[in-house]
Amino acid sequence: MIDRKYPNTRFRRLRRNSKLINLVSENTLNCDDLIQPIFIKEKFNGSESIETMPEIKRFSIDSSLKEIEDIIKSGVNTVAIFPVIDPDKKDDQGSEAIKSDNFISSTIRKIKEEFPDIILIADVALDPYTTHGHDGIIKNDYVDNDATIEVLVKQSLVLANAGADIIAPSDMMDGRIKSIRSALEKAEFKDTILLSYAAKYNSKFYGPFRDAVDSASNLGKSSKETYQMNINNRNEAMHEVAMDISEGADIVMVKPAMPYLDVIQSIKQKFMIPTFAYQVSGEYSMIKLAVNNGWLDKDVMLESLVSIKRSGADAILTYAAKEISKEILKR
Ligand code: PBG
Repeated sequence: MIDRKYPNTRFRRLRRNSKLINLVSENTLNCDDLIQPIFIKEKFNGSESIETMPEIKRFSIDSSLKEIEDIIKSGVNTVAIFPVIDPDKKDDQGSEAIKSDNFISSTIRKIKEEFPDIILIADVALDPYTTHGHDGIIKNDYVDNDATIEVLVKQSLVLANAGADIIAPSDMMDGRIKSIRSALEKAEFKDTILLSYAAKYNSKFYGPFRDAVDSASNLGKSSKETYQMNINNRNEAMHEVAMDISEGADIVMVKPAMPYLDVIQSIKQKFMIPTFAYQVSGEYSMIKLAVNNGWLDKDVMLESLVSIKRSGADAILTYAAKEISKEILKR
């Protein structure tokens, strides 16, 4: 016979129906948690698909404005823009990155003119601009830290001047947050927010992104292992974050996201500062491809984002932001 007094605790009491389940839900993914990355291509009209990223496109400036309108309607308030630069403008120094009237700065101006309330994140790194596809300046076959920082500072000032709300160094040079922060302060950009890609791993999950910004062929077989983090390390991520906070970062980011949930959790618990996660191109494409093939249910995308939020991320950059936000608004 079953002991009628057993069990005292029945977890299933709180799972009887979806209203009860939602009432005791510990985390909820909101539209505000999502950031949409967008690829914007120079000398180009209309839009084109990206073979390795299902449903994601490269846009011209004009078509990106329509896209952003759609993103805002979906409930997402923040976009991260990535330029696809005219190959003729690339050189080994990435010099186009520091010209005040370059493609990305005119793009930022147009977006902010049309949508003043959107929160606009602009990436700081040289890889869209270099013929070798690296994020920095090469000296003696090695990406030189301090020479790169000098250029990144100038690039940051160009982006801040154009009106970017958030400047996001994704290059992983040591000490760049300090230099960029002090240059911004000196130039009176006191409210420009610094989002540091603090724990950015040397990951193979970036492959589709490099196709999207057309840097894959430039980079060739060369690796970013001398500046991006070793995938085996977690303590090092804590040191990276501690340093970036002390140098003036307002927000820190972990990238990729789902393979590094332990890192997100440790950072959030220890530092208690705004912590973002980047569900990168490879994570997105893996899920999308399986869903589009009918191998996985489409809600796997939402589940992946919930797992990232549950680990402690305050916001998530994801190529699925618009789509998931629409779903959230419907529920
Ligand atoms: C470049 C940069 C990369 C990503 C964002 N900024 C790629 C890289 O480091 O090679 C990757 C994003 C993604 O895979 O979605 N500084």
